[in-house]
Amino acid sequence: MKKEMDVANVDEAILKRVKGWAPYVDAKLGFRNHWYPVMFSKEIDEGEPKTLKLLGENLLVNRIDGKLYCLKDRCLHRGVQLSVKVECKTKSTITCWYHAWTYRWEDGVLCDILTNPTSAQIGRQKLKTYPVQEAKGCVFIYLGDGDPPPLARDTPPNFLDDDMEILGKNQIIKSNWRLAVENGFDPSHIYIHKDSILVKDNDLALPLGFAPGGDRKQQTRVVDDDVVGRKGVYDLIGEHGVPVFEGTIGGEVVREGAYGEKIVANDISIWLPGVLKVNPFPNPDMMQFEWYVPIDENTHYYFQTLGKPCANDEERKNYEQEFESKWKPMALEGFNNDDIWAREAMVDFYADDKGWVNEMLFEVDEAIVAWRKLASEHNQGIQTQAHVSG
Ligand code: FES
Ligand code: FE2
Repeated sequence: MKKEMDVANVDEAILKRVKGWAPYVDAKLGFRNHWYPVMFSKEIDEGEPKTLKLLGENLLVNRIDGKLYCLKDRCLHRGVQLSVKVECKTKSTITCWYHAWTYRWEDGVLCDILTNPTSAQIGRQKLKTYPVQEAKGCVFIYLGDGDPPPLARDTPPNFLDDDMEILGKNQIIKSNWRLAVENGFDPSHIYIHKDSILVKDNDLALPLGFAPGGDRKQQTRVVDDDVVGRKGVYDLIGEHGVPVFEGTIGGEVVREGAYGEKIVANDISIWLPGVLKVNPFPNPDMMQFEWYVPIDENTHYYFQTLGKPCANDEERKNYEQEFESKWKPMALEGFNNDDIWAREAMVDFYADDKGWVNEMLFEVDEAIVAWRKLASEHNQGIQTQAHVSG
């Protein structure tokens, strides 16, 4: 069922032009009721709360006896952020620095007020909490309401495989999260990677782009019947299109692709709530999984991970060394830094939403449109300013 009815914040004229994916245009702040990775497990220590923003909401995360908890970072009394000055008087609570309302990390209940121990508010009020789960060394928050679904629903196939060793990097990028998804899943954007150090030094085969095959329906495969509830789109242009290795202008070759030995990225897919899987990449025995996590309307976490199946501790150790010395600098930085500046370069055009109608897509962008439609149809809710301030 299409969720056109949910669209609340987009200009009528724009809505008319983006039929079929209007909820996506409305989802500036992302989709609510999904799991998002926000940091790596090693970044949060026992009893040392961390502050962050997710889908516009300020949050606090703390580790208590090894387990992670997440509270909305806004005191119920006068709305200040508790993180302005963190005061944890006991292991299981946080006290507001202003008038000492004190909340339990576990369930957000206002359990005491140091400045007025007889207040009738005590035990009656509750700060919003969000479920937190750790997997593969990553911290995921369920930014939603009610009981969360299994994490598998919001992670791509293979990410949670038992033998999959995951390592990565997280950084804040100044663009809306949708521009990041669309850069990552864009079939013809590989052109920007043509001079990457990864392509040369790792001997990759990389065309300049693809000429699509005849039937546009063959360019993508939508997955909406996955057993764990995942919703995603596969880009099949590599299978049905023709790779372009010689770029010509007026018949004269002006640029060639990379004719390396290693074939990568045969299998590219994008999944709700906004996570790309590239298999294999950046080497034939590895996979890349990367999330574009909305922080607010103008910024996202670029949460990059590389997975490699490892059979034992020795393989895991070797992979860790290889990751630090080779894959992180060459792939997550060298190669993906191109993606970052490309996203930032799109910001102005899409800033007022008119870009969604003024853009002029071409044949290979079919994959991007398929993603917009899938996201519009299968998201679990659109995050709004009312959620942020509510
Ligand atoms: Fe937090 Fe008053 S604003 S206790
Ligand atoms: Fe890219």
